[in-house]
Amino acid sequence: GHPNISPPLLPLHSNFFMLFILPINNFRMTKKLLRDICKQQKLYMTPSLNDTLYLHYKGFDRLENLEEYTGLKCLWLECNGLTKIENLEAQTELRCLYLHLNLINKIENLEPLQKLDSLNLSNNYIKIIENLSCLSVLHTLQIAHNKLQTVKDIQHLQECPTICVLDLSHNKLDDPNILNILETMPDLVSKIYMRILYIFTYMS
Ligand SMILES: *[C@@H]1O[C@H](CO)[C@@H](O)[C@H](O)[C@H]1NC(C)=O
Ligand SMILES: *[C@@H]1O[C@H](CO)[C@@H](O)[C@H](O)[C@H]1NC(C)=O
Ligand SMILES: *[C@@H]1O[C@H](CO)[C@@H](O)[C@H](O)[C@H]1NC(C)=O
Repeated sequence: GHPNISPPLLPLHSNFFMLFILPINNFRMTKKLLRDICKQQKLYMTPSLNDTLYLHYKGFDRLENLEEYTGLKCLWLECNGLTKIENLEAQTELRCLYLHLNLINKIENLEPLQKLDSLNLSNNYIKIIENLSCLSVLHTLQIAHNKLQTVKDIQHLQECPTICVLDLSHNKLDDPNILNILETMPDLVSKIYMRILYIFTYMS
């Protein structure tokens, strides 16, 4: 049966009730709109000077026209209607990429982001973890609330030894062999935490 779980661990489960809000109107990410957003956020009007860009809750359905924003270190894109990771070739300085609460179903086109440290893909429709081994300094991967199911779907993690914070909760990972994969990841500091997340996933 299931291992015993003591009550203090239960709050980990509390974001289960998080609302999934999707924008109703979709807007194109045009150069003009991006400039207007920068103006509104009192950012530098020279795109390449800004290191942070907040594009969350904007109703965007495509990632585009970001070529001039070459100095970005953090890009906030959560809660849009994005279906694809694309057009991030110019963001070679990026450290954090927030893509949670979108409609993404594939991990791809991240190769240019050689300095990426933290990636949030939670609350999307990803079925398999892939194409992440190209990110040589990726430390944090959040991919909770997706469509991961089998050992095969997360096997690629074995090729991503730099990841030390990993959230796989609220997927459909119900194969006990998943723990074997996680245990082979050298830097995963919180293996016990992973076990807990895994168990909650299993039970929910
Ligand atoms: C915009 O970019 C400049 C230059 O990098 C930076 O100093 C400033 O903090 C940024 N503004 C915001 C709001 O991130
Ligand atoms: C990652 O996304 C989830 C929601 O999808 C959110 O709860 C969590 O706080 C995010 N993490 C960071 C570091 O922003
Ligand atoms: C992404 O991963 C898949 C499966 O591992 C692979 O077939 C594909 O070639 C990868 N794409 C890139 C651009 O590396």
